[in-house]
Amino acid sequence: NKAKMNLDKNFKVGEVDDRIYGSFIEHLGRAVYTGIYEPDHPTADEDGFREDVMELIKKLDVPIVRYPGGNFVSGYNWEDGVGPLEDRPNRLELAWRTIETNEVGTNEFMDWANKADTDVMMAVNLGTRGIDAARNLLEYCNHPGGSYYSNLRKEHGYEEPHNIKTWCLGNEMDGPWQLGHKTADEYGRLACETAKVMKQVDPEIELVACGSSYREMPTFAEWEATVLDHTYEHIDYISLHQYFGNREEDLENYLAQSVGMDDFIESVIATCDYVKAKKGSDKEINLSFDEWNVWFHSNEADKKLEPWQTAPPQLEDIYTFEDALVVGMMLMSLLKHADRVKMACLAQLVNVIAPIMTEEGGDVWMQTIYYPYLHASKYGRGTVLDSVISSPTYDSEDFDEVPFLDAVSVMNEEDDELTIFAVNRSQEEDLAFECDLKGFEDYDVVEHIVLENEDVKARNTADNPDNVTPHTNGNATVKDNKVVADLSKLSWNVVRLK
Ligand code: AHR
Repeated sequence: NKAKMNLDKNFKVGEVDDRIYGSFIEHLGRAVYTGIYEPDHPTADEDGFREDVMELIKKLDVPIVRYPGGNFVSGYNWEDGVGPLEDRPNRLELAWRTIETNEVGTNEFMDWANKADTDVMMAVNLGTRGIDAARNLLEYCNHPGGSYYSNLRKEHGYEEPHNIKTWCLGNEMDGPWQLGHKTADEYGRLACETAKVMKQVDPEIELVACGSSYREMPTFAEWEATVLDHTYEHIDYISLHQYFGNREEDLENYLAQSVGMDDFIESVIATCDYVKAKKGSDKEINLSFDEWNVWFHSNEADKKLEPWQTAPPQLEDIYTFEDALVVGMMLMSLLKHADRVKMACLAQLVNVIAPIMTEEGGDVWMQTIYYPYLHASKYGRGTVLDSVISSPTYDSEDFDEVPFLDAVSVMNEEDDELTIFAVNRSQEEDLAFECDLKGFEDYDVVEHIVLENEDVKARNTADNPDNVTPHTNGNATVKDNKVVADLSKLSWNVVRLK
């Protein structure tokens, strides 16, 4: 098998917005309690945050973290999570059927985010609540002082406003499972009026309206068109969510799913632009892919959980090597649409469908999916180049003409670097890869990182945390201004050039 890629320094898709390497922490399972926060843990800092977890998060250089949900936010009273700890109530958490102790709330999370050196994408409850709770929370967080809620924040020990710039208008409001689920018209009206009021409180904020919960929702893309019709001039982004899984044990088809992600993104862009044309507006709505990942391993175990526990192990997918390939291709899909996808959140960050796992009172370890996320965040900043690819293809259950080669490249002009990310989807053969470099005359290979494994089901676990790790023995070289490399069957590759 042979595949070719052509790059030209002058043919660009767009600037990478660093926020596409965002992530997500929900009050769900052990994401917060025994995940980022465990006051009794040997590595806990003075605020109860685990420093061992923090260290792995910092390596990922996560620019923004969505909080506090997710489905959780649609039943959340933010007031429960602020003020003296002893006054905070235990609540029935209806989305995940647990008990929420409210030990961590808005202020504690902002402390954690500051330590993690990340911004926060805050979601408001448009499920069981509405405009009033949203504007009060925004006033509490962002208003400097002299008003009821800003003074309350000061009383709670936070003199300076948190200045949270990005806000989600609810979560997955198209989903019948959502607390306070709404029709597109009901949600569109509420989102519009909430947006207007929130921007009166703080005109500097940016707002994300809920798009569809996934591509196969029966209401997609009518939902987007209707919601945008109501909200177009008052919001800045529309959200996309998508999770993949290999439930049918069909690897060919599983590896092709990122083609569906490309299609999803392009359909949402088309819908945004249709509403733009209809309204004759100059404004462009961009995309926030604020939940994406692989999620299916834990589905059965979660059905057996006893309800009303505090921080039980929920959604604890243990990822395989093949999942890491899919995550790598999802990252490439985001990059290929860098001109319109401005934010994205790997859902989630710790313990809950996450790259980082903890043991209560014990170790922290990295899942297989940690690595493509790390590589993309580290080396995928700059400008995405328009790549012309020719590759042999295959047909799978749901997709035709899937190229064996999936690849994208990012040029970093500041550091004079070029990175090619590539996956070989073939289960049978290595791929002889050749990439023509126009405008990168003196470039040479700095490093060729490879993530590969004989066993597609290989996993990292607490006992064997380094079972699946990348190596740097890839054989990429530059000859006659062309990158030449053998991409092993089923491999994730990062070819760094300078
Ligand atoms: O990330 C887990 C859940 O997936 C979120 O709470 C919800 O928004 C989505 O359905």
